Amino acid sequence: MKILRSIAATRRFCRSAAPPLVLVPTMGALHLGHASLIDRARKVAGQDGTVIVSIFINPTQFGPKEDLAKYPRAFAADRALCSEHGADAIFHPKPESIYAADHSTWVDEEQVSEPLCGTSRGGHFRGVCTVVLKLFAIVSPTAAVFGLKDYQQCAVIRRMVRDLNLPVRIVAAPTVRERDGLALSSRNTYLSAEERAQARFIRQALLAARAAFRRGVNQAEKLRRLVWQTISTASLARIDYVEVVDGLTLEGVETAARGAMIAVAVFFGNTRLIDNIQLL
Ligand code: PAJ
Repeated sequence: MKILRSIAATRRFCRSAAPPLVLVPTMGALHLGHASLIDRARKVAGQDGTVIVSIFINPTQFGPKEDLAKYPRAFAADRALCSEHGADAIFHPKPESIYAADHSTWVDEEQVSEPLCGTSRGGHFRGVCTVVLKLFAIVSPTAAVFGLKDYQQCAVIRRMVRDLNLPVRIVAAPTVRERDGLALSSRNTYLSAEERAQARFIRQALLAARAAFRRGVNQAEKLRRLVWQTISTASLARIDYVEVVDGLTLEGVETAARGAMIAVAVFFGNTRLIDNIQLL
């Protein structure tokens, strides 16, 4: 497995790599959720194709009060995980090689980015879109794999790819969870034992809402209230949002149809967890 640190070396590697070339963008501190994306990338690439994982903690997607400085860094373990899952290369650039000191060009998706995390994390998706476009420009992948745990991120990237005619196929992979249902996340390591125990209510709340939908409850307000109340059983939880939205535009709906999403963001202390479920 090749470790690529410079943009020039990465371009050289990607230009001569056996197609299809499949990219898995990450910020490192890899867990089994990321591993499942690498496995999926291998399926898309086939045994003869090439899988490249990028590991880059993108400063521009963190707000001034967010966890950039303490975001977990674990390159040795990340490298082992990528190798175990058969990645062909890791692109691990230095921040200064991605952003010039006078960097001044940004990608702003202005619709799908607006609700949900866009409301509570101003500028976040601008940072995500900008770095993902840069990664696409450096790697020129045939396809890129993203996790549905970050449902809005997938939707924003798909819109950017459509709007800017990028020749990259976006593949979305399902959320990998702990046994009690909590979605795996690098940020779970910030939780105290008590917060971690209570965090399972997020998944329980979403499952309860889906069960209610399947029984015929389709008023968004009722579904929202059910999720809100179930999560509130966790005394340490502080809800940022609970929204019932259209699965494509992410606009709020009054009546949930098949395919609608419920998306939540919940603080435990300073740790913000997100999750979602599709109503089917
Ligand atoms: P990061 O949080 O490291 O996540 C990298 C990829 O892993 C994302 O596509 C995310 O949705 C996926 N992922 C995270 N937890 C998962 C889980 N439990 N199951 C399945 N997939 C999971 O998302 C980012 O980095 C950044 O915003 C990035 C796209 C790399 C741009 O900087």
